[in-house]
Amino acid sequence: MQILDGKIVSTAVKERVKEQTTLLRSSGKKTPHLAAILVGTDGGSETYVASKVKSCEEIGFASTLLRLDATIPESTLIEAIEKLNADDDVDGILVQLPLPKHISEEKIINLIHPGKDVDGFHPNSVGKMVQGLPTFIPATPYGILMMLEHYQVETKGKHAVVIGRSNIVGRPISILLNRNTYPGNCTVTVCHSHTHNLKELCLQADIIVAALGKPGFLTADMVKENAVVIDVGITRVPDVTKKSGFAIKGDVDFEHVAPKCSFITPVPGGVGLMTIAALLTNTYNACVSKFEHQTALNS
Ligand code: GUN
Repeated sequence: MQILDGKIVSTAVKERVKEQTTLLRSSGKKTPHLAAILVGTDGGSETYVASKVKSCEEIGFASTLLRLDATIPESTLIEAIEKLNADDDVDGILVQLPLPKHISEEKIINLIHPGKDVDGFHPNSVGKMVQGLPTFIPATPYGILMMLEHYQVETKGKHAVVIGRSNIVGRPISILLNRNTYPGNCTVTVCHSHTHNLKELCLQADIIVAALGKPGFLTADMVKENAVVIDVGITRVPDVTKKSGFAIKGDVDFEHVAPKCSFITPVPGGVGLMTIAALLTNTYNACVSKFEHQTALNS
């Protein structure tokens, strides 16, 4: 069993982006700039946005964090995005999800300039991704692809079962694993809350992506020998032994599943770290006018 180590891969990716950013700077070009918007004070979202902004600083990007109160009207958020769209210094815009219920996520995502859509959630980016055209790929699925590639995990002809169909992870990773490229060329089954024979489908899977947000959901009796297991879960569960009062748990019962696997991602230390590395790559590409530009990374 081989651990797919998010620390190792994300460090390598971030080093590469950092080197490219230093080169940009020394040739007198602009510094990549990510603007993140956080609406409200959800603990998880606060932590994720803080680590995204911190990572920007570590690799030499400029960053802006805009914090807005949970009670703001939708129009305030719309104005903030329009301002960032028009700001030539800002290369990437990220609005942390979920948003408060009174704000339409669909409307907000649609408003972000497609050239600054480093989350890859805009219909323009999603459409291009579906067609296999170069574009921003949502950070978590992109990070998973980077991990598979780093460890040269074979995907061609494999049966991949994706548990979860969110726009952020499940749906995009199912499309990406099905593409006619590497990593890809999988036969993909997408499971969700209405799937009847989930266990049987998982037992047929060569690759399982667990992205449903239920701690410990994927148990050893659902996994065949030598499967590749990617755990996307990052749920906070109460834990009195931790200073913070909680522990981060994945969707996989790691202790019992890992011995059966050929490859598996840990939580923490797996996919979560890759999400940030992929976001930084997207922001770099946005800065260098990405896919029209010769020096874009991973394009
Ligand atoms: N909420 C959970 N994951 C993500 C993500 O990748 N991007 C944004 N903007 N919000 C999220």
